[in-house]
Amino acid sequence: MFLICEYQQNDYMKIKYLPILLVLLTFCASPKKETINKIDNKAGSPYEDKIEALIAKMSLQEKIGQTAQRGTSSRGKGLSEELKQAVREGRVGSFLNLKGKANVAELQRLAVEESPNGIPLIFARDVIHGYKTIFPIPLGQAATWNPKIVERGSRVAAIEATSMGIRWTFAPMLDISRDPRWGRIAESAGEDPFLTSEMAKAYVKGFQGDNLNSQTSLAACGKHFVGYGAAEGGRDYNTAIIHDQLLHNVYLKPFKAAKEAGIATYMTSFNELNGIPASGNKYILQDVLRDTWNFDGFVVSDWNSITEMIAHGYSENPKAAAKSAANAGLDMEMTSQAYDNHLEELIKEGAVSMDQLDDMVRNILRIKFKMGLFDTPYFDKNQDVLYKEDHLVSAKEAAVQSMVLLKNRDDVLPINEGRKIALIGPLADAPHEQLGTWTFDGEKEHTVTPLSTLTKQYGKKVTYVKGLANSRDNSSKDFKKAIKAAKKSDLIVFVGGEEAILSGEAHSRANINLPGAQEELLTELAKTGKPIVLVIMAGRPITLGNILDKVDAVLFAWHPGTMGGPALVELLYGKASPSGRLPVSWPKTVGQIPVHYNHKSTGRPASKESFVHIDDIPEFAWQSSLGNTSHYLDAGFSPQYPFGYGLTYSKFNCEGLTQSSSSLSNGGKIVVTATLNNIGDRKATEVVQLYVQDEFASITRPVKELKGFKRITLEAGKCEKVTFEINKEDLSFYNADGEWVTEAGSFKFWIGPNAMEGLSGSFEVE
Ligand code: BGC
Repeated sequence: MFLICEYQQNDYMKIKYLPILLVLLTFCASPKKETINKIDNKAGSPYEDKIEALIAKMSLQEKIGQTAQRGTSSRGKGLSEELKQAVREGRVGSFLNLKGKANVAELQRLAVEESPNGIPLIFARDVIHGYKTIFPIPLGQAATWNPKIVERGSRVAAIEATSMGIRWTFAPMLDISRDPRWGRIAESAGEDPFLTSEMAKAYVKGFQGDNLNSQTSLAACGKHFVGYGAAEGGRDYNTAIIHDQLLHNVYLKPFKAAKEAGIATYMTSFNELNGIPASGNKYILQDVLRDTWNFDGFVVSDWNSITEMIAHGYSENPKAAAKSAANAGLDMEMTSQAYDNHLEELIKEGAVSMDQLDDMVRNILRIKFKMGLFDTPYFDKNQDVLYKEDHLVSAKEAAVQSMVLLKNRDDVLPINEGRKIALIGPLADAPHEQLGTWTFDGEKEHTVTPLSTLTKQYGKKVTYVKGLANSRDNSSKDFKKAIKAAKKSDLIVFVGGEEAILSGEAHSRANINLPGAQEELLTELAKTGKPIVLVIMAGRPITLGNILDKVDAVLFAWHPGTMGGPALVELLYGKASPSGRLPVSWPKTVGQIPVHYNHKSTGRPASKESFVHIDDIPEFAWQSSLGNTSHYLDAGFSPQYPFGYGLTYSKFNCEGLTQSSSSLSNGGKIVVTATLNNIGDRKATEVVQLYVQDEFASITRPVKELKGFKRITLEAGKCEKVTFEINKEDLSFYNADGEWVTEAGSFKFWIGPNAMEGLSGSFEVE
């Protein structure tokens, strides 16, 4: 975990040195070092022969060394003598968080030139939504519904990170997230397996490029395998209970998509899954990942997640944890040293077989070969690619496309250029905060805020009052100043939300309203009668019930990254029309969570007709459940805003639904079309979405499932025909017998602007 990442280096030599010498004497009668390139590779794949030849030469200690990923501080710069020695002895396979080009180069030199078999290291880092040029947080990137821009963002991240010698990123996070209390929802693509899968493919393509072998390729890591987002109550690290059908039909899907896109690695998750911690879970690591998906890359644990199996109440001690993890098929251990300390003993006792260890090493070496590290272990230290102009342009475009317009009463947006603005709020000029969670390398000095952009472009028309020291400030001492500025303006732009540290790992919240006194300040500002445009920068959906009526517009900006300021100003002034769409259903109140569009129907589905509000129940009403359905008396049953929702500055309608057939046979497809019209007065983008429902099946299916989407930009008055194809595979699901099937029967479909609206049709599967 990044906040406690000074790992136990001091104990390292104490524990390690003696056994290592002994092992060296016993096993290191290793042959004279020769470069791997010289290994004869006459038959078979280019890698497998090389891998086998190398494994045949490796000592037990070196094999175990390949499974060790050492941590260094994400903030520190030093390189200890102990670490260098461990590398020389071949006792490390990878590093994470090593800072500085010179350090990377030095450790790689030691590995390649001085370790027994010259096996190169892989240097890893959490490059989550940009390296230096920071893009919107992943939840914001998902809100673009634009895989191309996500691919571009991760390509930029790869170009920048690899220029520093980093060749492996711990991204993308593919955890389906249906609980906005969970801080790590910020790192996810939201609640839906289809959208998350599309994003997964885009991230993998962008990070890894066309070939893992390229010097700008950043090996991707699908995390956290699996179920981390299903943490009970949204409390980080908590228990996940996910039945098998849900696991396969929802939680595993994006990981499978990443596998199909060629992802190099996965990371296990901290949580237990149905009673077995993910890092010791043979079902997911072996049966699913290896035996069913044929994954041949490697799997790394999460930070100390192997030894955390002790706290889970699963392993009695580190040795037992190492045994469970290795036998489950976990190849590399991040930071804790259970493998390092116990694998040798476990092998000798026969508790872990040498074949198992060899397989783990094979998986790791395979990726090192695929990455070309044996041929080109060193990186070019003289590149100058950080914050390149085209990187900043892409970051701005991603931020523009990510922001979601939730409300726009009386078309208060876009702002007329002549208007005097009171710019108020704790995040209007908070460069560090707008970068969001997981930005080890982003720099506030390079970040452009709304204030700096507005002042530059509109100068005297803008008066800035911060109003609150930060997003959690409860003091009203600056309210008067803010109100005064508001009264002198034509319009208030309030930029609030959450500081970066309020979301991300270990930062769950039980109340997801705007924190601090932001609601109070907005309430006071509303009393001035001036229109209020509320811009929210946050890492999760924010419940808006207390203030929604008091503001005229809400533009949700997520944490938009380095270029958040210019992106926001373009949207505020209508240089671009908002085109972001929600990747999550937006709760009215935390009591509604989980609220997601792809829920099951239940035996008493909620509906407008059956809903009775708490205020409408007659006093002394007869205690009866009849007529009532699955809803809350106070909060109803629908979210504040549905999945897929977002406004633009124009207006669209969709009409003329057609379908090529009313039945779908084996090998066939149904083509559905509709015409999208821009009936407003300006160019804008709509995201047209296709949803399907399998009405009756051998296990109940969700009321709707996203199966396709298209981002379409149209000039005012223009129209375009939108086409989707549906085939049997798209409709398949994992049934109660553990088989993927598409069952015959009736299906409904919708083409529309979000999960709650749309033109509908139906068809039969034969
Ligand atoms: C997180 C991972 C991250 C790792 C390394 C862990 O605490 O759960 O997502 O990649 O630390 O920083």
